[in-house]
Amino acid sequence: MIAAAEVEEDDVLCVRACGRNLAVFHIDGDYHVTDDRCTHEEASLSDGYLQDDTIECPRHQGVFHVPSGKPMAAPVTQPLRVYPARVEDGQVWADIP
Ligand code: FES
Repeated sequence: MIAAAEVEEDDVLCVRACGRNLAVFHIDGDYHVTDDRCTHEEASLSDGYLQDDTIECPRHQGVFHVPSGKPMAAPVTQPLRVYPARVEDGQVWADIP
């Protein structure tokens, strides 16, 4: 999907895969893959503010817990979809149903 080295520590990149935009996070040595679109309205979370293991939406400042997708701060109420991620041969992969 994307080379692990392309996603710097404590950073997030948007990747187009399987017909959707995904956010690939690199946090504390682990990789996480979620939908890139905020569950509140139209906004790209990869343009948001990553702090520790939370991402703040750039549009209305809603906050999600990245590893679980749990909404942490209004106005977001719906969880973010999280896909199981792994690194193989230097590439980040996610199980997209
Ligand atoms: Fe993300 Fe509103 S679009 S909080």
